[in-house]
Amino acid sequence: MSNSPCFEPLHAIESASLDELQNLQLERLRKTLHHAYDNSPVYRAKFNDKGVHPDDLTCLADLSHFPFTTKSDLRDNYPFGMLAVPMEQVVRIHASSGTTGKPTVVGYSKHDIAVWSEVVARSIRAAGGHAADKIHVSYGYGLFTGGLGAHYGAEHLGCAVIPMSGGQTEKQVQLICDFDPDIIMVTPSYMMNIADEMERQGVDTRKLSLRVGIFGAEPWTDAMRREIEHRLDLDAVDIYGLSEVMGPGVAQECLESKDGPTIWEDHFYPEIIDPETGEVLPEGEEGELVFTSLTKEAMPVIRYRTRDLTRLLPGTARTMRRMAKITGRSDDMLIIRGVNVFPSQIEEQLLAVGGLAPHYFIEVSKVGHLDAMEVHVEMAVETPAGAMQLSAQALQTRIKSIIGISTAVKTHAPGVIPRSEGKARRVFDKRR
Ligand code: DLL
Repeated sequence: MSNSPCFEPLHAIESASLDELQNLQLERLRKTLHHAYDNSPVYRAKFNDKGVHPDDLTCLADLSHFPFTTKSDLRDNYPFGMLAVPMEQVVRIHASSGTTGKPTVVGYSKHDIAVWSEVVARSIRAAGGHAADKIHVSYGYGLFTGGLGAHYGAEHLGCAVIPMSGGQTEKQVQLICDFDPDIIMVTPSYMMNIADEMERQGVDTRKLSLRVGIFGAEPWTDAMRREIEHRLDLDAVDIYGLSEVMGPGVAQECLESKDGPTIWEDHFYPEIIDPETGEVLPEGEEGELVFTSLTKEAMPVIRYRTRDLTRLLPGTARTMRRMAKITGRSDDMLIIRGVNVFPSQIEEQLLAVGGLAPHYFIEVSKVGHLDAMEVHVEMAVETPAGAMQLSAQALQTRIKSIIGISTAVKTHAPGVIPRSEGKARRVFDKRR
């Protein structure tokens, strides 16, 4: 670990002055608002309804007068109603499958794909990657933005891409062992799944060629980072993004600081709002992350509500602001007998109890009128029943004393909890 050299930022704007950055943002924001108003009937109607016009924006803070965009706007205009360019200018379509209903569809122009490749290349560089690296991509290829987003960015940086996609876990292990990649891009939960398969095959996970893992697409804690770094002897950094805004590469954690993803603010303008009132919150307060695209052509997004809960932090390794690790999505927040709890809080606690593996899910149900929560978690190795019981009790006690809720805990033998090949499903809420 930490044997990765650090590299200069890929683009000059990453170390520009704050003034320079804000001037560029204002210029691009004005252009984007005009583009959306002039070319998207949906945005024109939304702006008119709220009584605002692109010319009303005189400074960055004026953005708060403009209306939000939500997932329902995309669903209501399914499939192509949010496009602001004619279809002949669209060169790629992605979609994210919701658990229910219609998928959310997004479109990209040639220029959008070029910008996306640049921000992903910038992200890989910030993670310590360079042209001589081989990158194994295990994010799914297809309608999901993970695989192709990573792929184009890695190629743009000049890396040799191994487009493995998700699944075929035995083959993942074989290719990692035979091709000696320097970097892997995969969800953290699938990384653990691949590491399990390596151990099953007798591969020493600390002796691989991998130097860096660029993990994202799902929430993961710092406790999980330590676990992965220790198990695979690599540097684990966080990549964030969402299809509605672009895909992976909206924000990337820098290798040298590992202090939360830097938002590539020259392309994506962030705000944090109170999810209840919609008010913009002061810098540093936790709330819902909202993005406005600054350079997108095919499908600009104005004040898109991500549902992700986090805080904006000042820049460190770069001029641009960082986001704190995502606590969870407002949709994933469980309310257990009045107490708010996120799966990430449970993950933190279970990794603090020795002997448990980060393979887990949470089941919520009603017992009579009361909410009941049960955490299912695996032992790291085969363990006698008595010791399994003790681990379950230890976790139960930690959750009660630190998070403040009573929960049942069931420990399972290794390999019992279903594995993800992409985003892990952590919550099964039977109350719904
Ligand atoms: O997950 C894009 C992506 C692919 C990001 C590969 C990173 C790596 P969607 O399928 O649209 O896009 O899901 C977006 O996933 O709103 C967050 O809730 C969650 N998410 C993405 N990255 C992170 C992360 C891709 N680093 C949704 N930490 C987002 C926590 C993340 N949650």
